[in-house]
Parts: sequence; C-alpha cells; structure tokens
Amino acid sequence: MTDLFSPVTIGDYQLKNRIIMAPLTRARSLIGAVPMAELKAEYYSQRASAGLIIAEATAVSKTGLGWLDTSGMWNDEQQAAWAKVTRAVHDKNGKIFIQLWHMGAAVTTDFLDGQLPISSSNVNLSGEIRTPTGRKQALSEPRPIKLEDIPDVQQEYVDAAIRAIAAGFDGVEIHAANGFLIDQFTRDGSNKRQDEYGGSIDNRIRFALEIVDKTVQAIGAGKVGIRISPTNKVWGINDSNYRATFSRLVEKLNGFNLAYLHVLEPKPDSGHPMETIDYLTPELRSIYQGNLIANGGYTKASGDKAIATGAADGIAFGIPFIANPDLVERFKVGGELATPDQETFYTNDAIGYTDYPSMNATA
Ligand SMILES: Cc1cc2nc3c(=O)[nH]c(=O)nc-3n(C[C@H](O)[C@H](O)[C@H](O)COP(=O)(O)O)c2cc1C
Repeated sequence: MTDLFSPVTIGDYQLKNRIIMAPLTRARSLIGAVPMAELKAEYYSQRASAGLIIAEATAVSKTGLGWLDTSGMWNDEQQAAWAKVTRAVHDKNGKIFIQLWHMGAAVTTDFLDGQLPISSSNVNLSGEIRTPTGRKQALSEPRPIKLEDIPDVQQEYVDAAIRAIAAGFDGVEIHAANGFLIDQFTRDGSNKRQDEYGGSIDNRIRFALEIVDKTVQAIGAGKVGIRISPTNKVWGINDSNYRATFSRLVEKLNGFNLAYLHVLEPKPDSGHPMETIDYLTPELRSIYQGNLIANGGYTKASGDKAIATGAADGIAFGIPFIANPDLVERFKVGGELATPDQETFYTNDAIGYTDYPSMNATA
C-alpha cells in the first residue's frame, strides 16, 4: 500500500518518503537579511529525514521583505550563507527547496524607509506587523506597480531562483499563497487593475503564470514548485469567485510540468485554527495532472489516508516539524509528538529552534 513512507518522484528528484517539511518563517537572520548560516544549517539538517524540506519564505528583494529578521536571496552574501545550509542538508542525504517570497502590500513603510509598498493596486490589506524599530505598524495603502515595471518585479523571482540553485538548493517554491504579492494579483479583492494584469481571471493569473514560465525557463520545470492557498483570508485577502479563479490557475499550471503544486488548505474536520471559507483541494486535485502536495492540519493517520486514497502525492507538515526534528522517525514508530513553544517561533537564537531533542535523546 502506498503511504507516507513510500518513495515518490517529484520533478527531477526521487524522494525517500512523502513527508514534506512545510515552509516555516522562523526569523534567525542577521542585519541585511543574511541567514544565520550555522544555526540554520543545524536546524534544517536536523530535519533532513523529511522526503523534502521546503525552506522558509525568503525575500526576492528588499522591497519584498517586511517581516522582522527574515532572510533574502538577492545578493552574494545571502547566497553564500544559504550555501552552507544546503551543504549541511545534503551531507545528511536530505533534499531542500527554498520558498521565494515577495510580500507586496504586506510590507509596512518602516521597512521601506518611509516609501509605500508595491502591489497590484492601491487596495489596503488589513493587519499590522512588528517593524525594525520594535513597534507594530498597520499596513498602508500600496502603490500599484506600473505596467512597464512588471517585468522587473517578475525578474526578481527569476534572479533569486538562479541564486538559489547556485547556492545548492534542489529547487524553488514560488510563494503564490497567503495574501502576498502574487496572491494580490490573483484575487479580485486586491487586484483592481484595468490593464492586461487585471479584470478577467486570465488577466489576474497572468502575473503568477509569467513568473512560473520565466523561472522554469531559467532553472528547469523539475526544480520549480508553486504554493497556493485558495480559500484562506490572510491579510483580509479575498476573491469574489475563488473556485473559478483557482481552478483556472491550476488548469493553466498543467502546461508547465512543474515539480509540484502545493495547496495550503486545512481540511474542514482537522480542527485547524486557520480561517478558511471552503475546501477546494479535491477539486483542484482532479484538475491538476502533476504531483499535488496537500497541507493544513494533517496528522500521520490523515496523511497516510490521503496518500493511500490518492487525494495527494505528498503531505506537508508545518507546526509538527518545529518541535519534532525527527518527525519522520516518530511517525514510523508511533512516537509521541512534542508541542512547540509559540513564544520562540520568530525569535532570533537557538532556543526553541535547534534545541528540540530527537526521540532517542529524550528517551
Ligand atoms: C511559525 C510559522 C511560520 C510559517 N511560515 C510560512 C512561510 O514562510 N511560508 C508559507 O507559505 N507558510 C508558512 N506558514 C504556514 C505553514 O507552512 C503551514 O501551511 C501551516 O502551519 C499549516 O500546516 P500545519 O497544520 O501542518 O502546521 C507558517 C506557519 C507557522 C506556524
């Protein structure tokens, strides 16, 4: 029977199991958005028994970064630090992609030296974020990207993907989820453009598809995945017909032969706290012809079931990986799972990061 422990081919790679580490922003960066290389190398290599690690959301440019102490992939220093991380994971026989991130309108002006953030349109998302000065700042009305500047913003993803491969990553995941820049183009609640990037569904998904296309051309389809979250409402993002919008996007993604499509959408019965308005994954599964990674509130039992029934090809686990570096081994022997400390999710040192023991160490 196929289950979480069955190998699977995803893009260019044969994965040893279907237990995927979901991308998790955990801060731990130096000034200049440079990852703390040794610390991250230890953290990710502790988790190398996952079939695939999708490393944290990583900014493609300074304009795209608005979360305290997170890392980037737009200069040599950042790339060199990331290279130490990928080496450590490969030394442990792991595979690692990196998630490419532009926050768009979710960047506050404190991060941009007072400048306005960019987005598809001037729609103010809701929420507030802690800034480099230590205060919490509300999101402000963003500046719509000029039509002639769109290729430059898309190129930031491509350049970051090229750097990621040079840094030793096995591939990249394009972050099109959670209300960030690509999602701000995709959904009609935030995209009010009148040009070929706004209005109809095909126009709104153009931004995402062009980024996918350019990234595929640069590093190869077997090294590119994409993440969507069709029914969540992060930063108050919404779409008047999310079913039609995301079905069309997924249908169009069939044309690229990507490594995978990653859908973040908690199952209704999972008890997951994330606020969602529907559950589209089964429908998207029927549309998408490639590998689908499902995520959101899965356990070993529900993950095994999803794999066995063909509901997904892989299952991504987020929070379970935080306090259980050896999650794969715990699943294997039915070991108890440790609970993470939320207070250290976004702090900047080893505590609550690399000090969660493995099962054997605690026994
Ligand atoms: C601390 C933390 C950081 C996260 N960072 C990211 C991120 O960088 N990119 C992303 O797409 N999702 C991020 N998420 C969402 C997770 O990848 C995942 O979708 C979510 O935790 C649901 O999966 P789970 O129920 O297995 O934890 C984050 C979640 C948490 C708790």
